[in-house]
Amino acid sequence: MPALQSLRNCYDIAMHFTHGLATADRRELLVANPLPLLPTRSAEATDKYLSDGVPRKLGGLQGESTFRANCQVCHFGGEDTINPAKNLGKSALEKYSMFDESKIVNQVKNGNGAMPGFRGRLQTQQIEDVVAYVLKQAENGW
Ligand code: HEC
Repeated sequence: MPALQSLRNCYDIAMHFTHGLATADRRELLVANPLPLLPTRSAEATDKYLSDGVPRKLGGLQGESTFRANCQVCHFGGEDTINPAKNLGKSALEKYSMFDESKIVNQVKNGNGAMPGFRGRLQTQQIEDVVAYVLKQAENGW
């Protein structure tokens, strides 16, 4: 049953790459990026898809879900409900010299003022993803 076996492998791969996501995010990712389920696709095409398509999109989605779970309570829509001047818009970030990946990573790890540090609560990869998400949103005007 090669066709069924191949479907099964695709399913396992999809679950493996997305198991850290919330169900809704996983559904969104899988619906938006149908895995090459048909055995007519070459193994090469499947490898290429998995190596550059899925992880990159997953990074963006994971940054977003990490933001929702950990940052949004104070930074909904890029605002700062505690200290409004220090919002996550590009101009505020530039004004406070925070439009910089390593500085935000540092602040997320260690906290600053009323912002708690997330070291120990978020993994390095999650911090990198959430910072990439913040910078992308700032660039796009939230
Ligand atoms: C409990 C509320 C709270 C949470 C949760 C929180 N922040 Fe903050 N954040 C703040 C406050 C308050 C400041 C301003 C700190 C200061 O005094 O410099 C800030 C500042 C920032 C800044 C700098 C903004 C600027 O214009 O200088 C960034 C970037 C940032 N937060 C990102 C994040 C990210 C990413 C997360 C989630 C991982 C997060 N924050 C979670 C309260 C929070």
